[in-house]
Amino acid sequence: MKFPDNFLWGGAIAANQCEGAWDVDGKGVSVPDVITAGSHKFPRRIEPGFSTEYLYPSHEAIDFYHHYEEDIALFAEMGFKVFRLSINWTRIFPAGEEPEPNEAGLAFYDKVFDCCRKYDMEPLVTISHYELPYALVEKYNGWTDRRLIDLYMKYCKVIFERYQQKVRYWLTFNEINAGTLYTGTMSTTNNFKGFHGSLADLEDKPGQRYQAVHHQFVASARVVKYAHEHFPHFKMGCMIGFLGYYPYTCNPDDVLGALKQKQMVDWFCSDVQVRGRYPSYSRRFFEEQGISIAMEPGDAAELAQGTVDFYTFSYYMTFCLSADPKVEQTTGNLLGGAKNPYLKTSDWGWQIDPKGLRWCLNEIYDRYQIPLMVVENGLGAYDVKSEDGKIHDDYRIDYMRQHIEQMGEAIADGVDLMGYTPWGCIDLVSLSTGEMAKRYGMIYVNKFDDGTGDLSREKKDSFEWYKKVIASNGEDLS
Ligand code: BG6
Repeated sequence: MKFPDNFLWGGAIAANQCEGAWDVDGKGVSVPDVITAGSHKFPRRIEPGFSTEYLYPSHEAIDFYHHYEEDIALFAEMGFKVFRLSINWTRIFPAGEEPEPNEAGLAFYDKVFDCCRKYDMEPLVTISHYELPYALVEKYNGWTDRRLIDLYMKYCKVIFERYQQKVRYWLTFNEINAGTLYTGTMSTTNNFKGFHGSLADLEDKPGQRYQAVHHQFVASARVVKYAHEHFPHFKMGCMIGFLGYYPYTCNPDDVLGALKQKQMVDWFCSDVQVRGRYPSYSRRFFEEQGISIAMEPGDAAELAQGTVDFYTFSYYMTFCLSADPKVEQTTGNLLGGAKNPYLKTSDWGWQIDPKGLRWCLNEIYDRYQIPLMVVENGLGAYDVKSEDGKIHDDYRIDYMRQHIEQMGEAIADGVDLMGYTPWGCIDLVSLSTGEMAKRYGMIYVNKFDDGTGDLSREKKDSFEWYKKVIASNGEDLS
């Protein structure tokens, strides 16, 4: 099992789950800033009134905004070759529509990227990771409005121009396929204009969601084409939340069900972004769902001209698909599915399937034949300090070891895998529940669900372990 010499080992975070400083240096209100903390039992709420009754985890998060030097130094100590992070749109255009960008916001990311470069760490930048200026929700109902394409383009032109010497790898939208699912209403398509209340009461409007995703496809393609023309050294990628569905049994209904599920959940968005056109199977889906997507005459050409250079994805779990409604179901990040009796689950009930990663890597590479990267993967767990005051997270090491082994197997299978950036390399706010208690990091952050904590950073056992893995280029996983 050998990883290529130039394999990009690193870690991943997102602005809204880490930065904090939500109203500092001219930053505007973004969607996560109006979403309250929740838990396993209590769904998060959209409450733009900023009531003191609620806690808003993005407001301070882990305060990466003021700790980035310390954090990046720790990543460098682990040997990161790449650091995946996102730019918060509202630091650059606070309400999304200002004539000029906010210089203080631009200057912040200059400092962050310079810091990465100081350690020879390649930034991998997600342009839009589950945040949008909240003003664009209130004015346009999020991505349902076609005018967002131009606003996104304007934002991209500014950041490309500014960071062209510092950033080469870009991802246009985080988990763009989330928008094809109900959960994406809150995180991706943001079509909840005027809604206040519990996310459990958020109405699903599939027609609006798919329209919004279409606008994101066009926005992504336009930006990719622009980048290729003006910044030929850029590498532009898509990012998919990959869910892998096994047929629960060899009953043909399960097999066909899994195929259909994978088509619209796993493949649909990347088929558009990698192949440059809507896949044929989507026609029947839209007809049967009664969904009609408004497209403009030039859209097909734009999609064809703006295909991505590499494919990235998050991988946390797989599911089964069963035609039998009595089969037990289980949950995941974007969607649920039938429980797999062969798999264990995390503290949050997510199924753990390292071999599934090898399977998915093979399937994706067989389909697209372009370089791949696993840009999210990890174990969200309760970390408890031992008597010696340290976090001995052997469960996280086991999880990572098994997934890295399977990436090695996939490379041996012939998959062109560029890199690995495990999620939440430093503890951060959970997207689904808004909790701090769901920790992914190799670096512990002293911050708790009730908002207390001095934000100090400590290394977990996984820190030293991952350092060794990177130093040996994946050979020493002991
Ligand atoms: C991915 C998202 O879906 O899952 C991340 O891109 C998110 O933003 C991650 O944090 C893990 O999910 P959660 O709910 O455990 O934070």
